[in-house]
Amino acid sequence: GNPVSFFEQVGGEETFHRIVARFYKEVKADDVLLPLYPEEDLGPAEERLRLFLMQYWGGPHTYSENRGHPRLRMRHVPFKIGPIERDAWLRCMRIAVDEAGLDEAHRKQLWDYLEMAANSLMNSWS
Ligand code: HEM
Repeated sequence: GNPVSFFEQVGGEETFHRIVARFYKEVKADDVLLPLYPEEDLGPAEERLRLFLMQYWGGPHTYSENRGHPRLRMRHVPFKIGPIERDAWLRCMRIAVDEAGLDEAHRKQLWDYLEMAANSLMNSWS
């Protein structure tokens, strides 16, 4: 296999920082997503998503050192995630990923994963 991780190939922490910061900038202005967040300060949520994605793509395992096993499905159970919420999440993330300046192969690999993950976290069909 390729010894250089996707994480490193796309520019490491800086790239993930940029993507997740851009995503949360959109979330703050999104009437569907913003009410789902239990905390007014989105900073800690931004850090958790950034660290999770860095770990998933072969970067440092800081996420699991802080939070343990991701158990993403379980951790999303408190939030109603139907088609409207999924679409809103993907809309915000699409902007963030498209603006990150990745080459097409990496952009598509990241996007396909995020789309699959968002679908897998749905827990409501209304
Ligand atoms: C946490 C919403 C999809 C990864 C959260 C939180 C909300 C939320 C409200 C709590 C914020 C917090 O951390 O305090 C949603 C919605 C989604 C979605 C509406 C639409 C499908 C995803 C996807 C991923 C993801 C696709 C990963 C690829 C995470 C992570 C956390 C989180 C890592 C923090 C978990 C923890 O350590 O507590 N999400 N999410 N989410 N979400 Fe999502």
